[in-house]
Amino acid sequence: MKLSDIHQLLTHMTLREKLAQLTQLTPLSFGHNRNADLTGPDAGLRIPAQDSPHIGSALNCVGADDVLFVQSQHMKNSDYAIPLLFMADIIHGCKTIFPIPLALACSFSPEDAEEAARIAAKEASVSGVHVTFSPMCDLVRDPRWGRVMESSGEDPLLNAAFAAASVRGYQGNDLSSPYSVAACVKHFAAYGAPEGGREYNNAELSQGTLEEYYLPAYHAAISAGASLVMASFNTIDREPVTASRRLLHDLLRKAWGFDGVIISDYNAVDELISHTAARNGAEAAQRSLHATVDVEMMSTHFINEGEALVNSGQLSAKDIDEAVLRVLLLKNQLGLFENPYKGADISEEKRLHRCEAHLTAARRIARSCPVLLKNENAALPFSSHEKIGLVGPFAKERRVMGSWSAGNFEGVSLYEGLCEQMNDSLIVSSAYSPLESLQNGFTDIESFNRETLAIELQDCQKVIVAVGENQDDTGEGASKSDLRLSHNQEELIHFIKSLGKTVITVIFSGRPLEITPILSDSDAVLQAWFLGSESGNALADLLLGVHSPSGKLSMSFPYSVGQIPVYYNLYSTGRPASRENPVRYSSRYLDCPNEPLFPFGFGLSYGSCIVKDLQFDTDNGLILRGEIKNTSQTPYTETLQLYLQQPFAQIARPVKKLVDFKRIPLAPEETLAFSFEISQQMLCYPLHGKQIFEEGDFICMVGTNSAQLQNLSFSLSKEQYQHLKRSSYDFEMFT
Ligand code: BGC
Repeated sequence: MKLSDIHQLLTHMTLREKLAQLTQLTPLSFGHNRNADLTGPDAGLRIPAQDSPHIGSALNCVGADDVLFVQSQHMKNSDYAIPLLFMADIIHGCKTIFPIPLALACSFSPEDAEEAARIAAKEASVSGVHVTFSPMCDLVRDPRWGRVMESSGEDPLLNAAFAAASVRGYQGNDLSSPYSVAACVKHFAAYGAPEGGREYNNAELSQGTLEEYYLPAYHAAISAGASLVMASFNTIDREPVTASRRLLHDLLRKAWGFDGVIISDYNAVDELISHTAARNGAEAAQRSLHATVDVEMMSTHFINEGEALVNSGQLSAKDIDEAVLRVLLLKNQLGLFENPYKGADISEEKRLHRCEAHLTAARRIARSCPVLLKNENAALPFSSHEKIGLVGPFAKERRVMGSWSAGNFEGVSLYEGLCEQMNDSLIVSSAYSPLESLQNGFTDIESFNRETLAIELQDCQKVIVAVGENQDDTGEGASKSDLRLSHNQEELIHFIKSLGKTVITVIFSGRPLEITPILSDSDAVLQAWFLGSESGNALADLLLGVHSPSGKLSMSFPYSVGQIPVYYNLYSTGRPASRENPVRYSSRYLDCPNEPLFPFGFGLSYGSCIVKDLQFDTDNGLILRGEIKNTSQTPYTETLQLYLQQPFAQIARPVKKLVDFKRIPLAPEETLAFSFEISQQMLCYPLHGKQIFEEGDFICMVGTNSAQLQNLSFSLSKEQYQHLKRSSYDFEMFT
């Protein structure tokens, strides 16, 4: 539709019809007999029949059959032939389920994230979805928070790279393509920092921390062209984001130039009342519309209060028009005025959902996500001719998709994956009771019979113990204060070790758990996460050494819950602790190290490498060059990481920050040259919205994880800085 026609359309609509366009409900709430997944309170919302034809968007109605039905009814009733937008949570796949985002980030491969998002977009689009509420760009430092599984972890650069890649994957080059969906960046801002890791709690963080760590990923997603942004539930500096004109209008729209749709989170406009930021629905609507929220999800204050607010001059009709225009423009970009059904197609669903190509991609991508945390006593890999024990609640568990897998509950179990590649008589399995959810009152697996187990496992030298947390205990509304494995799972590992076995612990979880208590009893530890549809196959590929593990932690693993938050890129303190020479009045714990159990960027493989001959090349810009040598006979992929530190500046600087990374596939004993180009952005820090460069000394650090690094220093003047390249992550936060 032409822009002028959209403006024309607006002139015909009544104020109430416009407010209905700004309302998002489930189809049931606006009169269609079709259900949708609820991800929040259902107050039995129903709107009057006369408003129904003007409602702007439908929440979580997925499936070509349902969408075609609801849209066709809607188009029959709509006076202006304005199609509905169908928005849904397609988070890590639609029908082909990919690893949870926290795991996906361990691949350090934004290309994989882009491919996963492309496939998800295809599968979702043929099921009638126009907008996905993804990517979640929230940086997270606290694994007690259940939604950590949905983030890409603790590092702003990694977050930004994955956010931008996902947006590219979802949206492709043309939003109107039958295989593209619009991306909604969430949850702006700092929803990943709830105090104490408790869901929906307030975020307490400084402006500097917000700018330096939390904002870059949202910005990167918006720069990659994301069409929508979701405002977060939390407050920042005592202000609920849903009502924050400072964050939504001044920062997002004015400073960053975002001109797309801002949607509230589920019922968040109404929740301004519980936040004590509004006395009633009218105030809640006024504050959020004034903050430039365009769409109200799952509450109805815009439509019920908007007319009175405009008539009394508390909101301007022009502001409402602008919001409606943004919604209509999005519908137009998606091509809905020409074809309200877009990609929705039952035969395409049959052709594409979980098709072979998608499952093959899911297996390959899933393989790059598990992180090998420990491997001693030649525990891994084992051969397909070895007799292997397999025990623990996740041995035969198919519920390994992770939260937000939209009704796709079952993937390939570890047992099934191993049986594909080994004779099943070689696998001795003693399946235990599954681990049920804490949400349903279960806390542990049943205790096991030691004598029976010892007899069953008598011919196996190696035993896989598959442990973890129930997938429903991760995701939204799944905060935990205790991150240890349940008692009987720890006991199981301990007992198997006491039999003299080589213990291979495989951990299924949506967050870093506290695994200190089981570490010494485990010869090998593979952090499997929740890998989705192809979980068991991907894990079998790694355990059998068909492929070498290559995942690197996107988030630090704590020694104990008491250490949380523990992350690698902390600001320097006035009294840094020394591990070698601990002194009383320094920044440290008496009963636990400062460092995490496993640091960000850490992950072993079956191969090993050395990094050597680091030097700067200043002929053209500033380039750090070096060589990496595979010192083993095993082919594998190493992820080289470049960190930077500024030893002196006007404000405290992180002890190190990731500024670039590269995945390098290495043949046995191969030596390869590598280079990292130092860009302007790497050397700057944000202060009150500006990127600041201070001339002086810098330290480059290169290595295969954030803790073991080789250093090389350099100095740079302002003049030299001008000649460096600008990087793709360049941005000014505010103007
Ligand atoms: C979540 C959002 C989600 C929305 C719609 C909310 O509870 O916070 O991330 O997109 O529900 O399902």
